[in-house]
Amino acid sequence: MSKKKHKAAHAEEPELTRRALFRTGVGIVGACYVGPIAYPVYRYLATPAKQSAALAAIKEVSIPQEQMPALGTALRFAFGTRPAILIHMEDGSFVCFDAVCTHLGCTVEFQPEEKRIHCACHGGTYDMATGKNVAGPPPKPLNQYKVEVANGQITVTRA
Ligand code: FES
Repeated sequence: MSKKKHKAAHAEEPELTRRALFRTGVGIVGACYVGPIAYPVYRYLATPAKQSAALAAIKEVSIPQEQMPALGTALRFAFGTRPAILIHMEDGSFVCFDAVCTHLGCTVEFQPEEKRIHCACHGGTYDMATGKNVAGPPPKPLNQYKVEVANGQITVTRA
């Protein structure tokens, strides 16, 4: 290698190093900007099916004592992907039902004054103690969950 070519090669090295450094810096800065945006987008797009499957697989829900409904009232809560209704009966016992109307799937509500479970969509009515369909268009009873009370905590499980 001639002395002139050798000098030219050395002259390009700092340029290459600066260029590589610049590219690396751009990559890091880009990752810093894109990462925080891309990760939530990825999570949003990737998880609904997994989340839904995980929620549907839930077989048991624990309700802490502080959320226990008073006598004659009810608590609506999420049992996996579905609403559920826990009723504290006047005799102190608990009953729990899937809160999805068996007619067309509206969410039912407990009506303590009428002592019934009612669906506002088409006037369906269910017995509050058994979940049996007693009036209106619902073709079958509400699904009932099993309720256990131990150490001040309520555990609801799929029957
Ligand atoms: S959806 Fe409940 S009565 Fe029709």
